[in-house]
Amino acid sequence: MTVPALEACHLKLVWEDLAVAEDISLHVDEGEIVCLVGRSGCGKTTLFHALAGLEKPAEGTVLLHGENITGVPGRVSYMLQKDLLLPSRTILGNAMLPLILRGIDRDEARARARDLFATFGLSGTEDLWPSQLSGGMRQRAALLRTYLMDNDVVLLDEPFSALDAITRVELRRWFAGMARELGLSALVITHDIDEAVDLGSRIYLLDGNPMQGSVSHLIAEAPVDAQDRGAAKAAVGALLGLA
Ligand SMILES: Nc1ncnc2c1ncn2[C@@H]1O[C@H](COP(=O)(O)OP(=O)(O)OP(=O)(O)O)[C@@H](O)[C@H]1O
Ligand SMILES: [Mg+2]
Repeated sequence: MTVPALEACHLKLVWEDLAVAEDISLHVDEGEIVCLVGRSGCGKTTLFHALAGLEKPAEGTVLLHGENITGVPGRVSYMLQKDLLLPSRTILGNAMLPLILRGIDRDEARARARDLFATFGLSGTEDLWPSQLSGGMRQRAALLRTYLMDNDVVLLDEPFSALDAITRVELRRWFAGMARELGLSALVITHDIDEAVDLGSRIYLLDGNPMQGSVSHLIAEAPVDAQDRGAAKAAVGALLGLA
């Protein structure tokens, strides 16, 4: 049996005294894009923080290629829900930031980041400021910055939600191709069922309402048939009571 790129085993998540989610077990296989869908407030970002090692779960373990990384930051690359570019740095300056923060020499960091601008569809934007780019381009730059955190597992929290509908579809399809090309394994959090069905080979559904005392659980794991994404959309909608 192959070891998943990322695996969560029986996580229990607590925010302050609030029990947010429990018994969360999921995995992302090597080279796979998996989506996690759930209503606003059900605990997606709280789970994201635990998977990224930014918070330690109250219970359970997070494994990276089989290695226990529970509560250890820096082992998976991630993009936070509102991960904006720094307005006072150029696009290149923003992109190379993760390398600089790891103590990599400025010239080397600049060269490594610059080499990836074409792959990320950002050629010619190196010396521009974030305010000079369209929303879609800014998001590509934020994804490039995430990629330069240098891990093969990437977690994205609502990466496309701030974009208009057309750009959102274009960008997520571009992302799927790029992730394949770069050999990434990704967990993408979204509340958009269309997005999950379009992007993921599998979808996990998180449901509950912690603020109302109903702790969230993963209520389903739905496979997506690339030939019939409509079926997956209907199944997920029905499970969330939207049918
Ligand atoms: N930093 C925080 N500030 C306030 N409440 C929080 C915070 N972190 C977690 N919570 C609580 O935990 C629960 C889950 O929040 P979380 O942000 O994980 O939800 P979410 O599914 O990511 O929602 P959204 O789709 O709106 O981003 C919420 O009910 C909230 O009350
Ligand atoms: Mg969130």
